[in-house]
Amino acid sequence: MQERLNDIERAALSSLSEVRDEPSLEAWRVQHLGRSAPLMQFIAGLGQVPKDDRPAAGQAANRVKVALEAALSERREALRIAALASSLEEEQIDVTLPGRTIHRGRLHPVTIQLRRVLAILAEMGFQVYTSREVETDEYNFQLLNFPLHHPAREMADSFYVAAGERGDNPILLRTHTSPGQIHAMREYSAMNPKDPPPIRIALPGMCFRYEQITARSEIQFNQVEGLVVGRSITFADLKGTLSDFARRMFGQQARTRFRASYFPFTEPSAEMDAECFVCGGAGCTVCKGTGWLEILGCGMVHPVVLQNGGYDPKRYTGFAWGMGPERQLMLRYRIDDIRYIFANDARFLQQF
Ligand code: DAH
Repeated sequence: MQERLNDIERAALSSLSEVRDEPSLEAWRVQHLGRSAPLMQFIAGLGQVPKDDRPAAGQAANRVKVALEAALSERREALRIAALASSLEEEQIDVTLPGRTIHRGRLHPVTIQLRRVLAILAEMGFQVYTSREVETDEYNFQLLNFPLHHPAREMADSFYVAAGERGDNPILLRTHTSPGQIHAMREYSAMNPKDPPPIRIALPGMCFRYEQITARSEIQFNQVEGLVVGRSITFADLKGTLSDFARRMFGQQARTRFRASYFPFTEPSAEMDAECFVCGGAGCTVCKGTGWLEILGCGMVHPVVLQNGGYDPKRYTGFAWGMGPERQLMLRYRIDDIRYIFANDARFLQQF
């Protein structure tokens, strides 16, 4: 009997020494310590052993079982250490190698210019109001005092997204940031319809026009709209604010001039020029010999537009403007073709 147990133990231990990995270790456990292992069969058969021999047989079998279990866990630990050692060996890293250079992204030049504009306006007390890029005809034109079929719409041939059954109110990509004026005024006036709060906001964002793409015009571009509404806001506030903006953007010496113009949503309307910051007004190629650079369109908010925004034009006045950061960028860096700006050529973008 003892002989049989010795054989079992010897056979088990010798096959354990062949085990090299975790799966075969598990197979070994099933084979030698599992339910149908010879040792377990032996233990199960102890009932058949004569009563007097039974305690000794039981003890001997148990000793073998304990020995096999100890050998198993010892082997498991040895395998774990070996695996760790070999992974340390194989996955060694050379910390002295030079690192891979990280390619850092950069801001798009238009983003840089937009941030310059908004930083100046923020200093002047303007909050940023972001408005949607997809608009209805009503917001993009009608509420801004462009009557249906008015020829002023020709300034902005549009990308229509949905027309069909929408009749006179198709959906389009906004052609300017001005519809944000209506959204903002309606939102603010809804806070207190009887006595709406004053407004001083900048509305930046992408605009879209269905145009021939040339060195001077793109089908997408940004605008920064400004809107100020309050009690007794006058054209003097408009001139002062926009001239101050020009000095902050183009330098303290920058003079400005205002020329009469036309926009349906302002009355009176004007365009502001800044003295050419390249030649100081003497005339050069950037200002095409005039000494002046056209910077923005502006005007006093039309009473109909105030009304459409929920502001009573008898009690409130305001001014607004719209300007193009791409154009400012082009002037600043003497970029002579607007198509570079959205062509996404890294050779161009990396210069900023
Ligand atoms: N929306 C005009 C355009 O796209 C720009 C503009 C002019 C905006 C005068 C204004 C303004 O708010 O008062 O050409």
